[in-house]
Amino acid sequence: MLSAFPRIDLGAGPTALEPMLRVGEVLGHPQLWVKRDDCMPLAFGGNKVRSLEFWLGDARARGCDLLVVAGGLASNQCRLTAAAAARTGFEALALYAGDATAPLRGNALLTERLGARIRRLGPVGEEERGRLARRAVSELEAAGRRPYLIGDPVRGALGYVRAAEELARQARDARLDLRHIVLPGSMGPTEAGMIYGAALLGLPWTFHLPSVEYAAGELRRRLAEIVAGLARLVGREPPPGWLDRVRIDLGQLGEGYGIATPASLNAARLFAEREALMLEQTYVAKAFAGLVDFVASGAIPPGEAACIVHTGGTPSLFEQG
Ligand SMILES: Cc1ncc(COP(=O)(O)O)c(C=O)c1O
Repeated sequence: MLSAFPRIDLGAGPTALEPMLRVGEVLGHPQLWVKRDDCMPLAFGGNKVRSLEFWLGDARARGCDLLVVAGGLASNQCRLTAAAAARTGFEALALYAGDATAPLRGNALLTERLGARIRRLGPVGEEERGRLARRAVSELEAAGRRPYLIGDPVRGALGYVRAAEELARQARDARLDLRHIVLPGSMGPTEAGMIYGAALLGLPWTFHLPSVEYAAGELRRRLAEIVAGLARLVGREPPPGWLDRVRIDLGQLGEGYGIATPASLNAARLFAEREALMLEQTYVAKAFAGLVDFVASGAIPPGEAACIVHTGGTPSLFEQG
């Protein structure tokens, strides 16, 4: 379905699909699975690697040689852009929002280690950060460079359309009748790509998205916009009613983005102690806390198999208390 789109292989997949039997015993659900997108060979891996395969493919097709990426100091996208550049021979420029005097730690330290040029923007919000990134791209173009701005959500979502195909194939091979998928609900490319892919393939998957960032209306708007963009880019409309299979859950948001909750801290401990899974607090632990809650409430009943996607973010563990 995606062979027309340029892609550079960064080893994003297939990632392992593993049963979580020991947590399943505690929760009373025998069919819980995890898709290990936290285990990829590129610099600690994570969901952004799948998107980067398509962003880099597009960059190369357009004759670009310099990747520009913007984010907060904890950004996985900046770290993995630097890694993808190091691996494939692009240059990389990372624009970091946040206190310009804060020392580089965790993801940001790795971005520097991976050879990206780093520019500190100071404490600017998401919109201003985007404006500054576009301005940096224009200035580079004016200076005769060929920059590519990383982050288009629709092209990035192609990585998870591909992941939906991959997971469907793995489930079929394992004779597993998957019914539920759990993912953190955030900016949207990961979730929207997988939802769109599953809709086109006619899979009977219900998506449960514990929001880690936005109110339900805003997350739904983002998903709808990216799915509409995918339909235009791929040239195939999803079947009507695709949104009926998406359940947005606000129960894990707590005090907001990046702030741990008692449930997310408990989930990090439970899945570490019984499955040796390492969950950072911004995205992943809240998604896993959601899974615990969905099983407890019966939203994911014991007779129906469920898979949670571990989206990575591993280096953040070393910055979090
Ligand atoms: C580890 C991790 N999980 C989940 C997400 C959310 O993905 P998306 O922005 O596609 O919603 C991110 C995004 O930064 C991430 O780094």
